[in-house]
Amino acid sequence: MFDTFEKLADDPILGLVGAYKNDKNPKKIDLGAGVYKNIDGIAPVFDAIKCAETLKLENETSKTYTGIEGDPLFCETIQSLILGADHPAIKDGRSRAISAPGGSGALRVAGEVINGWKEGAHVWVSDPSWPNHTPLLATAGLTISDYPYYDGENHVIRTDQMMDQISKLGKEDTLLLHGCCHNPSGADLSFEHWQEIARLAEKNGFMPFVDFAYQGLGNGLDKDAEGMRYLVSKVPEIIIAYSCSKNFGLYRDRVGAAMIVTEQKASSEAAWTHMKSVARRLYSVPPAHGAILVGMILSDSDLKLNWEAELEEMQSRINSLRVLFTEAMVRKGSSIDYEFINSQNGMFSILGLTVEQVQRLQSEFSVYMVNSSRINIAGISPENVDYLADAIIAVQ
Ligand code: LMR
Repeated sequence: MFDTFEKLADDPILGLVGAYKNDKNPKKIDLGAGVYKNIDGIAPVFDAIKCAETLKLENETSKTYTGIEGDPLFCETIQSLILGADHPAIKDGRSRAISAPGGSGALRVAGEVINGWKEGAHVWVSDPSWPNHTPLLATAGLTISDYPYYDGENHVIRTDQMMDQISKLGKEDTLLLHGCCHNPSGADLSFEHWQEIARLAEKNGFMPFVDFAYQGLGNGLDKDAEGMRYLVSKVPEIIIAYSCSKNFGLYRDRVGAAMIVTEQKASSEAAWTHMKSVARRLYSVPPAHGAILVGMILSDSDLKLNWEAELEEMQSRINSLRVLFTEAMVRKGSSIDYEFINSQNGMFSILGLTVEQVQRLQSEFSVYMVNSSRINIAGISPENVDYLADAIIAVQ
């Protein structure tokens, strides 16, 4: 069999990790995969996670299987984090979550559940979007199309074209939205956008599906959830795929949640059994270690306060790096105005370079970014910003 296989290209995002690692240039800069880095260029383990890990090590008595849904405390606490404590949907039992292997696992479970409802159902993905959305959901059997989202020339959301497309969606369509910190553009929906989408969903009956992977990294935990929570309050049903990779720094531990909120308790109970049935067929039970840590943090007021403070520090550092970068580009005489980067959110922005320019940055300057010229802002530092600015200007 394998001698019939042709070698596949590296993953457009994670493939950069290996290429960067093998680069011997001491000036190399990694702006590729969406991983937060501190001032030393390290993706740190949160102190709150370390504390929870110590407690877990001391108290854990068994590593037997969890249920298919994963750690119960995680499933309970993550819903409060997403919807806000005391949300009526949680109290009424209209919201259910399962622990999943990262945000990708959660997306896939959600995709399989949608496809189980209607084979080949249509899911609408923003243009542009995280490059893995389409392959991940299409492999679940779904039909993927895109809706206009980001105007890379003017650095704004294409509101009219986007709403025009969304207004044509009906009961058999699913609309995939980024909860906050749009990946790859950093251009987030305004509250007015969320209101209009909610109105259209109510009127035309399409299903909103929110990929919520960066809560707390844009404008704070509650603010980042504001639009999605509004949508939850308006529509009869919604699916959410959540990731704890970035906001808990648990990338490799694979912690995420697939969640649904419905109007009727019975439907959420039924949908939960479908999520579990999909999970059992895909991976049986989710990894528990990281999810248990998240559950411990979210249910302990001291650990939670520590985690929130660390997350806030990350968020404000990313914002200061945005300013650092735009100032350096002005100082170095960039022909492109990058001021728009300061109004965007989260880890990413798109520089607006061609693939050839991106390739030159990599081969001539050892500056790594995704071919779309999406940069991970957290890879910028006071030490590398001048070199980075010079390199970008050299290929402009
Ligand atoms: C990214 O977009 O860089 C991250 O979400 C990592 C990944 O899996 O692609």
